[in-house]
Amino acid sequence: MCGIVGYLGSKKTKDILLDGLQELEYRGYDSAGIAVLQNDDFSVYKAVGKLVNLQEKAAAFDPSGFAIGIGHTRWATHGKPTELNAHPHLGESSYVVHNGIIENYAALKRELQESGAHFLSQTDTEVIVHLFEKELRTADSAFDAFTKTISQLQGAFAILLVTKSEDRTIFFAKQGSPMIVGRDADGEKYFASSDTPLIGKCSDVIYLDDGDYGYVTPETIAIFDKKSNKKEPHFSKLSTNKLSAQKGGFRFFMEKEIYEQSEVIIDTLLGRIFDKEIHFEELDSKLFDGINEIKLCACGTSYHSALVSSYLFERYAKIRVSVEIASEFRYKEPLLCQDTLFVAISQSGETADTLETLKMAKEAGLKTLVICNVDNSSMVRLADASILTRAGIEKGVASTKAFATQVVVFWMLSLYIAKLKNSLTTEQIEKQISLLREVPSVLKIKEGLHEKITRLSKRYLHGHGFFFIGRDIFYPLALEGALKLKEITYLHAEGYPSGEMKHGPIALADPELFTIALLPQHMLYEKSKSNVEELSARDSTICAISPVEFDKADDYIKTSDVRDYMLEFFEMMVIVQLLSMEIAIRLGNDVDMPRNLAKSVTVE
Ligand code: M6R
Repeated sequence: MCGIVGYLGSKKTKDILLDGLQELEYRGYDSAGIAVLQNDDFSVYKAVGKLVNLQEKAAAFDPSGFAIGIGHTRWATHGKPTELNAHPHLGESSYVVHNGIIENYAALKRELQESGAHFLSQTDTEVIVHLFEKELRTADSAFDAFTKTISQLQGAFAILLVTKSEDRTIFFAKQGSPMIVGRDADGEKYFASSDTPLIGKCSDVIYLDDGDYGYVTPETIAIFDKKSNKKEPHFSKLSTNKLSAQKGGFRFFMEKEIYEQSEVIIDTLLGRIFDKEIHFEELDSKLFDGINEIKLCACGTSYHSALVSSYLFERYAKIRVSVEIASEFRYKEPLLCQDTLFVAISQSGETADTLETLKMAKEAGLKTLVICNVDNSSMVRLADASILTRAGIEKGVASTKAFATQVVVFWMLSLYIAKLKNSLTTEQIEKQISLLREVPSVLKIKEGLHEKITRLSKRYLHGHGFFFIGRDIFYPLALEGALKLKEITYLHAEGYPSGEMKHGPIALADPELFTIALLPQHMLYEKSKSNVEELSARDSTICAISPVEFDKADDYIKTSDVRDYMLEFFEMMVIVQLLSMEIAIRLGNDVDMPRNLAKSVTVE
């Protein structure tokens, strides 16, 4: 996920910008850059990869005295991670940094090219600076040109722009993506896309609202709202505790990451969903030529998302799928055929067991694809192709947002293959894409839900075990719910297919057996309901999660009345994550660093 910093003042501009970018590193990025304007002269440095590359490039640059500067860490969406695509982007005499996406960039770019603009990058961002310079030719002032520019942009953005004709001004705009303006004790001005770069530098900050735009100079902070009315700057005190700021006010990283899921899914979808098709810039469709089977390999949570994908690939893409636990696959002497696409899934890209299976597949001459959250990880470097999930850095050992993004990537990939294989009609693909667009709003945690789960959690602190049950893709979700609970509460839990309980596990049923029943209305509702009734008849304590009231349950968590099972999946996912977390908190456990576990398991 991209990050923005800005500074206007007489302190060490370069250091302030680079330090700020370092504080944003945790969000993940693949290139970075800064532009500093001083004495009518721009100094610009960009580098691909880690910030140290940028620091090395800018090592000899040491501006002193008054300057204005902007900086950016980029996580590629439109265009590959190259220096040309890294921000800041240049017009003729202005630079811009931007987070988010300009949805109408293609149309704007065409018009600007027709009127003579010369584009250097493949990004959507570059249209902003060319549009600004076009407006500047006829506008009354640079601010007038900036106002006209942002009024033509559609989509989500946080923007900083600097231009030679106003070398004591930084222009800003915020719509959908976060942006904060800070002020230090000397009245110097700072910008950042989250709190952390500002801690220790500013005491007062303004959290901009959507639609806000304006400019800062050494003397002023001018803010206008979306109706162009001037606003009084409203300052808040900034916390001095970095760790708590990184947690964004949440008690644990896991909690923050659960709440972030809506936002990170927007990033996962960015530049990949169009009205009628899915586009993965990083994929060559030839990868699927001659492929008759997909074999997926992973561990833990990533294995569960692979299981979800097996339903989606077969249902939508009509392709044969097998899913394997990596540590098993390594030693089973697997039969690997050339018409199989091998897919490794990993949040970290470093899990030893999964990495080894990828090596085995490569050695056997299979085509390989990695679904991963960390660019440049061992798996990404090894595979023929990779799709990044863009969850941002996940700090909680118990994976949450990485899982959500993996499932969304698999859903998109199943539609991408369906299109290649003509296994869905254009109308069916369109419908699926419109559902994908609804995922971020489904993932927003509804008022009262978390509180209800917290209240309910006190009844689930004992007992002799939990069964999470579901059918179809709600079975891997049940497995994932049970894994979350085990990891952070240390209570015994199993995930089971609802229809399989009667073949053995139902023998365990008694009031001290807790059943967490996933009962979506759009996937085998009646069948799942009968399975839960069987457990209820044997006195198991039932917590039903469903949009349909269920009178045989002891506890009931109501979900929304959405129009498809995929949307129900994501809402139920959040509920099982929160339930595990609240039980763990009541038990006094370390939610972010549970005992015996590591975030990345790089040993066998
Ligand atoms: O980084 P990976 O996705 O390859 O990690 C695989 C598992 O180790 C991981 O999912 C683990 O199960 C998590 N702790 C789950 O919350």
